[in-house]
Amino acid sequence: MKRIIVGLFLLAVSLLASAQDITYREHIRPLWEDRCERCHGKDAPYLGTFLENKKSYEADDKGPRMDSYADLIYFVSWPETGAIMRRLDDGKSKNDGKPGNMYKNLGRSEEERQANLLLFKQWVGEGSWIMKKPEAITKEELINIKTRH
Ligand code: HEC
Repeated sequence: MKRIIVGLFLLAVSLLASAQDITYREHIRPLWEDRCERCHGKDAPYLGTFLENKKSYEADDKGPRMDSYADLIYFVSWPETGAIMRRLDDGKSKNDGKPGNMYKNLGRSEEERQANLLLFKQWVGEGSWIMKKPEAITKEELINIKTRH
């Protein structure tokens, strides 16, 4: 009995550890290549250029470029604070209850979308999946964002 309890305890510890160890390199990058790259990859313009000609880029299925670690966390923490959270959320963390408009791109099935959403949430870190814009986020909330490389 004792052994089972110890075993369960170790399993719980390793599950907790793995949730904290979600990294860009191992988890988010492959997901991004699979689900986001075709519209946010190297053929897409950086945000400044994108905004100058939004309509025509959108018509071409191109969003702002996010094809490196630095260019992706730009849309998590600063200066485009919370853009990833607002766009990818399934509606459960949003006041209006509606999924963000990039949620559908997270997977081919609801199961895959939920699994990939969870990976993004774990990457951003416990308590940091918040919808706030830069003017509303607090310094403590910013510091709490994980997004490990
Ligand atoms: C079919 C093309 C397409 C795919 C696939 C796609 N996006 Fe987008 N995305 C766009 C376009 C076009 C825009 C700009 C229009 C808009 O704001 O909705 C955009 C906007 C965004 C924004 C808002 C950027 C800002 O300026 O605030 C984020 C964040 C985002 N996408 C994240 C993602 C992520 C993460 C994925 C992969 C899970 C993804 N997108 C997949 C086309 C796509």
